[in-house]
Amino acid sequence: MSGTTGDKVLVTGALGQIGTDLVQALRERHGNESVIATDIRESDGHSSVEGGPFIILDVLDTDGISRICQNEGVGTIYHLAALLSAVGERDPDLCRRINVGGTISVLEAAKVCNLKVYSPSSIAVFGPDSPKHATQGAVLNPTTVYGETKVTGEALAREYLGRFGVDARGIRYPGLISYKAPPGGGTTDYAVEIFHAALKEGHYECFVRPETRLPMLYMDDAIDATLTLMDSRGDSLGESRAGYNIPCLSFSAEELANAISERVEGFTCDFVPDVRQEYADSWPDSIDGSVAESEWFWSPDFDLSSLVDEMLRGISSS
Ligand SMILES: NC(=O)c1ccc[n+]([C@@H]2O[C@H](COP(=O)([O-])OP(=O)(O)OC[C@H]3O[C@@H](n4cnc5c(N)ncnc54)[C@H](O)[C@@H]3O)[C@@H](O)[C@H]2O)c1
Repeated sequence: MSGTTGDKVLVTGALGQIGTDLVQALRERHGNESVIATDIRESDGHSSVEGGPFIILDVLDTDGISRICQNEGVGTIYHLAALLSAVGERDPDLCRRINVGGTISVLEAAKVCNLKVYSPSSIAVFGPDSPKHATQGAVLNPTTVYGETKVTGEALAREYLGRFGVDARGIRYPGLISYKAPPGGGTTDYAVEIFHAALKEGHYECFVRPETRLPMLYMDDAIDATLTLMDSRGDSLGESRAGYNIPCLSFSAEELANAISERVEGFTCDFVPDVRQEYADSWPDSIDGSVAESEWFWSPDFDLSSLVDEMLRGISSS
């Protein structure tokens, strides 16, 4: 197959937490028919991805990705299919296969079809020896397999750019907080579950200690950052383009619980750490996003207070 670059956009892993919001935002920009949502599973019938084309696609199927891109005239791929940290640590081999294998498949298809690629990284690239306020150039020695797959994903994106000219970009997402789709089995899932539990049960049992502090963002900010990076001129992006730190919020589990109890009368939270505490402890408390700020001028709109207001409003009205 030889390269053609179309105007359409393809999203892998589109039924997940980020895909649900990203597909909607992309369709608002490009029109419903121009954004092809794909996933390895069928939608449950309630997903917003149903407003336009949807195709079952396994990201390990390089030829399948290339075929769809050629036939449909796809020019850009947002590669979201992956196993997240808590799920990935339960099955490290599968995590490597999907996260690394899937990224290779997408980059190979991009090489053949001249695709521009968005492939997200994660704050899980950092390990216990990174500074607690993690800088862009901090050492990357993750202790989770998930984190290793993200370090490899960044290296692959740089390699395909250097060797084949594939325009691949990525952000090291922090924990993302949203209400339209459930989180996919990551260590920061508590920061989403707590809202649903507060409104439904008035109580939450949190799986990390109260003082656990992690970088977080409201989903609208993460989507805005993603689209801003993809809109940026390639020549303005430096060597961090495969995995930018971005400016994030940073709050403890207890501060989040307190912000909710100020708004939901009678809400209580217990803290009963499980294995995910270890993963959280290996990651930074906060992120230095100054390189992204200086190269493509992005900063978040939501703080903890407005994020909590939006989550409670969104869940209550959905
Ligand atoms: N959500 C977060 O807080 C967060 C934080 C940091 C990084 N990220 C990264 O962002 C990306 C998307 O995350 P998410 O939260 O939307 O994940 P998610 O788990 O909610 O969704 C992933 C989707 O991928 C699909 N999938 C799994 N295996 C597949 C395969 N072989 N082929 C095709 N699809 C497959 C799943 O069905 C699922 O719908 C991932 O790379 C993740 O590592 C997410």
